[in-house]
Amino acid sequence: MDNSAQIDYWNGPAGQKWVRDADRLDKMLRPFLDAVIGAGKPRAGEIVTDIGCGGGALSLEVAGKGAIATGVDVSQPLIDVARRRAAVSAPGTRFVVADASDWIPETAADLIVSRFGVMFFADPVRAFSNIRKGVAPGGRMAFVCWRPLAENEWALAPIIAAMPFLREAPKSPEPGAPGPFAFGQREHIDRILTQAGWRSIRISSWDGLIELPGAAAPETAEFMLEIGPLSRTISEQGLDPVKIRDALVARVQSLADAEGRTRLKAATWIVEASA
Ligand SMILES: C[S@@+](CC[C@H](N)C(=O)[O-])C[C@H]1O[C@@H](n2cnc3c(N)ncnc32)[C@H](O)[C@@H]1O
Repeated sequence: MDNSAQIDYWNGPAGQKWVRDADRLDKMLRPFLDAVIGAGKPRAGEIVTDIGCGGGALSLEVAGKGAIATGVDVSQPLIDVARRRAAVSAPGTRFVVADASDWIPETAADLIVSRFGVMFFADPVRAFSNIRKGVAPGGRMAFVCWRPLAENEWALAPIIAAMPFLREAPKSPEPGAPGPFAFGQREHIDRILTQAGWRSIRISSWDGLIELPGAAAPETAEFMLEIGPLSRTISEQGLDPVKIRDALVARVQSLADAEGRTRLKAATWIVEASA
């Protein structure tokens, strides 16, 4: 089993969309960056690895705490974004294009962190065993991952709005198949990390509202067509997003608050473990 499908995905059009939307995504996902920092508590001088770092927001936050951060990601375009950002704010931060399933750092890390970057491994036990090998004795890990799609209104609402225009209902992925919701089940995460040799595993729920990008409904709908599960369904089924847009704008309008902000329910796991 290899990760070539995900490597292609994150280096292709999806990766480019994440590049274009990097700043807006970071704003939307800020609460989870804070949650990972709160769980991992990086300290000055510590060596920290950020798995699936994307555009590098978490690595740069860790560096801002005085830690020495390395971000690892399979996506060259996203690593380019991270390097550009680091050149401005944290030149000591390193970014590496590599598959975290087989990459080992030169110096073992005190802390592994990730914001939604660990759910894409074809063989998660192998990946997390390898990640553990890159951790110093007594080292720790803190990451955030999505709970099931059904509990995440920000992802489900656009799909429901688009349902009349889909060729078929989106297929449920095989349990545990790589993808944003692969770590939805607590028992699944616990089993993977235990088999990979991690100890003192703690999995707690984080529930809250996240604000979707866009000052008004059409802009938010455009974002939903670009990024997230609806966008994946559109490309899998070869649909024309223009045909879905009006229904989506109407749905977003009905969900927006009095100020026109679209704040929807998000449900995640905050996972902590020791090497
Ligand atoms: C949902 S994005 C999150 C990006 C970033 N952590 C953030 O919060 O903005 C998932 C990231 O995981 C990366 N990724 C997927 N499979 C990977 C692997 N095997 N090794 C390293 N990174 C991987 C993708 O390229 C992508 O940047």
